[in-house]
Amino acid sequence: MSIDPARELRAQAPVGVFDSGVGGLTVLRALAAALPHEDFIYLGDTARLPYGTKSPESIRRYALQAAALLRERGVKCLVVACNTASAVALDDLAREFAPVPVLGVVEPGAAAACAATHSGRIAVVATESTVRGGAYQQAIWRRRPDAVVATRACPLFVALAEEGWTEGEVVEAVVHRYLDELFAVPAGTRPDTLVLGCTHFPVLSPAIRNVLGAGVAIVDSAETTAAALVGVLDRAGLRRGGAGGAGRIRLLATDSAERFARVGGTFLGRPLDAADVEVVDL
Ligand code: DGL
Repeated sequence: MSIDPARELRAQAPVGVFDSGVGGLTVLRALAAALPHEDFIYLGDTARLPYGTKSPESIRRYALQAAALLRERGVKCLVVACNTASAVALDDLAREFAPVPVLGVVEPGAAAACAATHSGRIAVVATESTVRGGAYQQAIWRRRPDAVVATRACPLFVALAEEGWTEGEVVEAVVHRYLDELFAVPAGTRPDTLVLGCTHFPVLSPAIRNVLGAGVAIVDSAETTAAALVGVLDRAGLRRGGAGGAGRIRLLATDSAERFARVGGTFLGRPLDAADVEVVDL
C-alpha cells in the first residue's frame, strides 16, 4: 500500500470527544482503553449542563458550538459522547463536520442492546430529550423490527451521579421509583435488557443491578462506541500507530475546572487534577 503523507500527518491529530459535562468521561475511558496510542481532546460543556431537559433547538445550537471549538483544535474525528446530543443533533453535526467523521453513541448503544437481548423486550433509560425524540427505539427497530421497546426518562439519575451518590438506600429508592413501572410487571412482559442511554448512568450500574437482580442484561454504549471508533479510524486510514507512544488526554470544560476534576474522577475512574483542566468559552 502506498503511503499518503497528508493522511499520515492527519492520523497524528487527536480524536475530539464532546459531552454536555463530565458524564462522557465514561465513554472516553472506553475509547482510550481501546485506542491507547490515540490522543484525545475531551470537551465537557459543564456551564450548560444538563442538555437533557433543554429544547431540541438549544441542544443543536450548543452541540454545533462545541463541535466548532473541537474543529478549531484540529481533531481528525468527532465522538459525540452525549446521548442527548447524539439523539437530537447527530445529523446536523455530521453535515457541518463533513468530511470529518462524526460518531454518536445511540447507534452503538442500540447495537449492544440487540446483541444482548434474547426475548426482544428492551428497556431504555435516558434523559427527557433523548426519550422524547425516540432515537433509541428507531435505532433498535432498524436492527430488530420485532423488538418491544419501553422507555423511561430518569432525570434524577443525572443529579445523583453528579453528586457522587452512586449506591445506598437513597439511590436504590430512586431506581425503584423509575424502574418498577418497566420491570415490576408480569414475567412474560418483563424486558431482559436495560440500555443505560445516558452518559451518567453507568456509574449507577451496581445500584441498578441490586434492584433488578441477575436476570436482566445491563448495557451501555461505551464499549460498542469504542469498537465503532476503531472501525471508523481504520476505514479512513486515520488510526495512529504505536510509534508515537502512549496517547495523551486533554480536558476542556466551559465551567469550573475544580468541579470538573472533583466530579469527573468518578466517571473517568481515576483522580483528576484541576490544573489539568482548561476552561474555555464557546
Ligand atoms: N450527557 C447527557 C446524556 O448522555 C446527560 C447529562 C445532560 O442531561 O446533559 O444524555
